[in-house]
Amino acid sequence: MHTEDLPALLTPEGQELLAELRDYAPGEELALATRLRRTHDAKLVSAALAQARLRSRAAAKFGADAARMYFTPNGVEQSTRTGVAEWRAGRMKALGVTSVADLCGGIGGDAIALARAGIRVLAVDRDPAACAAADANAQALGLADLIETRCADVAAIDTTAYDAVFVDPARRAGRGRIFDPEAYSPPLSWAVEAARGASVGAVKVAPGIPHEAVPDDAEAEWVSMSGDVKEAVLWFGTKAAEPHRATLLPAGTSLTGGRLPDPEAGPVGRYLYEPDGAVIRAHLVAEVAAELNATLIDPTIAYLTTDRLTPSPYATAYEITDVLPFNLKRLKALVRERAIGTLVIKKRGSAIEPEELRKKIKPEGVNSAVVLLTRAAGSPVMLLGHAAVEAG
Ligand SMILES: C[S@@+](CC[C@H](N)C(=O)[O-])C[C@H]1O[C@@H](n2cnc3c(N)ncnc32)[C@H](O)[C@@H]1O
Repeated sequence: MHTEDLPALLTPEGQELLAELRDYAPGEELALATRLRRTHDAKLVSAALAQARLRSRAAAKFGADAARMYFTPNGVEQSTRTGVAEWRAGRMKALGVTSVADLCGGIGGDAIALARAGIRVLAVDRDPAACAAADANAQALGLADLIETRCADVAAIDTTAYDAVFVDPARRAGRGRIFDPEAYSPPLSWAVEAARGASVGAVKVAPGIPHEAVPDDAEAEWVSMSGDVKEAVLWFGTKAAEPHRATLLPAGTSLTGGRLPDPEAGPVGRYLYEPDGAVIRAHLVAEVAAELNATLIDPTIAYLTTDRLTPSPYATAYEITDVLPFNLKRLKALVRERAIGTLVIKKRGSAIEPEELRKKIKPEGVNSAVVLLTRAAGSPVMLLGHAAVEAG
């Protein structure tokens, strides 16, 4: 979206066009555009179509709200999805925060969740199109009383009047994702200083942030949604007893820790546990091992094992039927013998590409199984099994 497109879309004619485009099927786009251009300005029709496309992409992050919101292409990519933003807003609320300076507010993904939690927000972004979208979103969702937007460089903002500072730096440049935290805009060191300056501070970072880049005074939280790790956040002023936290959404369960030594390794037992990605990124596998009384299957692999099933919200359990050295021919034969048609292929510490392997095995039959390609006691192994079910 160009900055100049939004005012036209907010007029009664623009709104009428957007309403017409609400449920269009992408295949109908050409015919629809031709029809609409007969009665409306071609530029406005293009802007409305572009916005409708962005809204449909944004539905995965914002659900039903997306149909009422305004986006820029970058804003769709970079915004925080509702469930994750709500979790953060809930933590802010629990810490007693009533006002937040949202530095790098984008199209308002975080600002919306904060405002819905009853928190007053100043949302700052230097991109005029993002600011205009954030403003329109606050209006469209009935949150304009709580969200003030400002189009400025974050370095120019005085945050002293706010309980909390939240920074969500841009982590993408023209050529894709940025991995060096000092190449974020603004750089991580600036964001950390800004966050430390308030009673409560939070900086959103990429989940792959090296642990060495996490400041000693931060509580680092890794957040996953339905098993996919979405982000990490460096919190300041939370007075957390433990340095690391893994939060699993949508359940909202959090595991804290970060001080235990690595678990021992031992032979593969009857059950194998695959910790959630947030737990692994947060280096909290030892905490899960302690909870399950489990050992690692290999000192370098984050799979845990026990002989007794202990269900955990932090790890998916499999019952293992076969522990074999990796051998393609043997695997093919087993899959055929057991009539396994639905084969879930998982891997950790193996170079094998699951989809290539599937093509070679050609699973066929009425049964289902899981094969985990990994390493145990230093050697490549294949572990066959199925999802573990607790005895009733
Ligand atoms: C990751 S996005 C923010 C997404 C936002 N939290 C949301 O959920 O919609 C980062 C934003 O930072 C803005 N930005 C980058 N450097 C900035 C700076 N120095 N001052 C103000 N905004 C900046 C970009 O324009 C971009 O919109």
